[in-house]
Amino acid sequence: MPSAPAAINPAEATAVVTGATSGMGRAVAMRLLDEGWTVLAVDINVEGPIKDRLPAARHRTCQADVADRIAVESLINEHAATLPPLRAVVNAAGVYPPSNLDDYTEHQYRAIFDANVLGTVNVTSSTVKPMRAHGLGGTIVNFASADAFSVSPGQLLYSASKAAVVSLTKSLAIELAPSGITVNAVAPGWVDTPGTRGNDRMAAALPGIPLGRAAAAEEIADWVWKLVSAETSYVTGETLLIAGGAALR
Ligand SMILES: NC(=O)c1ccc[n+]([C@@H]2O[C@H](COP(=O)([O-])OP(=O)(O)OC[C@H]3O[C@@H](n4cnc5c(N)ncnc54)[C@H](O)[C@@H]3O)[C@@H](O)[C@H]2O)c1
Repeated sequence: MPSAPAAINPAEATAVVTGATSGMGRAVAMRLLDEGWTVLAVDINVEGPIKDRLPAARHRTCQADVADRIAVESLINEHAATLPPLRAVVNAAGVYPPSNLDDYTEHQYRAIFDANVLGTVNVTSSTVKPMRAHGLGGTIVNFASADAFSVSPGQLLYSASKAAVVSLTKSLAIELAPSGITVNAVAPGWVDTPGTRGNDRMAAALPGIPLGRAAAAEEIADWVWKLVSAETSYVTGETLLIAGGAALR
């Protein structure tokens, strides 16, 4: 019978973090580095400040579109062999342009689902190969959204894409359990990030949040860290709603 996983030695652990040059992906990458992990930071835009802040020896920043399966696979194959064992994956890359029935376009649909859904599948499929090869197990944390449960006006396609991430998280949890890999998701409500800052919709939503404020990216990174650090080793397939009471289920 499999036993509960032992605490991970940070010196022997790498995490892949997507969307790592901005917002919550960046906060997660910083947290993992602070905890002593090695981080392979992946983003379509690598011009962010992460490059300046992080200790070079324990991180690599790589440019890739998570929706490009071949690019993601070759990037992971190239780096996994020369880094400490890959033990965690955080799929934070995502886009959230507004859309509704009157103004959506097919192009917009594909852009949202490619980044948020296909990107999560591509990165997971590429990274479980080296995880299975080292046989140490691991953790995957996906980024859903409170909109997956409560939906926001004007987020027709985005909400659907994040509901798909909740569903993927359940399916992948079952598929990867035999490999000792847990799969969970976080579903933030409003979070103060470069993507939402200055957003009229966030300003309008703030008074309605029971805790009275948006979350800081670091607060979400704390929860991701809990899921990654084996403190929650028997939790899999779960999506953790972190919305200050703005969405309830
Ligand atoms: N900010 C919020 O209020 C909020 C709430 C709930 C969920 N989310 C989700 O959390 C995640 C992070 O959000 P954030 O606000 O920190 O975002 P952000 O816009 O600050 O950063 C997102 C990062 O993802 C990268 N990215 C986008 N598309 C990519 C692609 N195809 N390939 C690789 N990288 C790509 C961007 O370049 C950027 O660096 C997203 O999945 C978002 O949908 C955000």
